[in-house]
Amino acid sequence: MSLPAGAPASAKKRDLISILDVAEDLPALLKRASGLRKLRHEGKLPRPLEGRSLAMIFEKPSTRTRSSFELAMVELGGHAVYLSTKDMQLGRGETIADTARVLSRYYHAVCYRAFRWQDEEELAKWASIPVINALDDREHPCQIVADLQTLWDRWRGKFEGRQLAYIGDGNNVLRSLMLGSAVVGLNFVAAIPPAYRPEAAVVEKAKALAQQHGSSVEIVDTPKAAARGSDAIYTDVWVSMGDEAEAAQRKEAFHGFQVNELLLGHANEGAFALHDLPAHRGEEITDGVMDGEQQAIWDQAENRLHAQKAILELLVAKAGAKPQARARRSK
Ligand code: CP
Ligand code: NVA
Repeated sequence: MSLPAGAPASAKKRDLISILDVAEDLPALLKRASGLRKLRHEGKLPRPLEGRSLAMIFEKPSTRTRSSFELAMVELGGHAVYLSTKDMQLGRGETIADTARVLSRYYHAVCYRAFRWQDEEELAKWASIPVINALDDREHPCQIVADLQTLWDRWRGKFEGRQLAYIGDGNNVLRSLMLGSAVVGLNFVAAIPPAYRPEAAVVEKAKALAQQHGSSVEIVDTPKAAARGSDAIYTDVWVSMGDEAEAAQRKEAFHGFQVNELLLGHANEGAFALHDLPAHRGEEITDGVMDGEQQAIWDQAENRLHAQKAILELLVAKAGAKPQARARRSK
């Protein structure tokens, strides 16, 4: 798996494929997402996407991502259309490139939940409108904007001196979380079984970014070592969508990599658990943690909506994204 390339500097439209595509915007995005949360709680809904539309292509199931994108578009004054690949011509062999060309004539932006990151990049390559990664097998950037917003709110806008631990699989969520933490200057430590660690290149990239931003990134062997000195502990499922064939061996490999009350006890005072959801209760996290007070999981889920709005404002409203006009014929 190659390192996320980020958007080419020459591109006129802005894609969000890797969290690094919004690296420089992250502080403003978190602040705006937090502000949008406050506004919504006061019943105020700004509508900067009046008349704009979003195509939402999903190859895999979704509860939060689909709901938050669709609702974000509606509340911002726009419109969203859900397209399951089971029902699209894409599922019958129409190419991603042709799909991208057509959608670019209708919509102002497209979000895409894909099995393969190569397909995510293919769509971005051919679409003339922004492509937003709604999860692929390499990254889950929109999730991480909401996660960092949750931490930003809890820690009143300060990441300096804080430590986030991640326990479990070196998957899409881990990659985006590690890179995103490095960019905002949050110390990051992950406990991942050796066979499930991400590529060395992405770890090195995160370490270099962390150094630039005055923080650190570390991979350790045990959950206890990661929990020590941490202010929050994040986990994700052991078996991601697409990994189902490996379920039995994964459950064995991740045995002991569970976020439970005992593990939280090794973390700093006031530490809390995070999970992007859906959770497999009793595997990577216990009922006690999910249903207890030492978690910010439900805030995280709510923040998907606010974060999605901030992302759409940035990539669609502020960047002035619009459907591609028909090319003028030369005489
Ligand atoms: N966290 C997340 O992306 O959830 P969904 O799969 O329900 O969208
Ligand atoms: N790592 C999980 C995240 C689900 C939101 C998966 O890819 O299935």
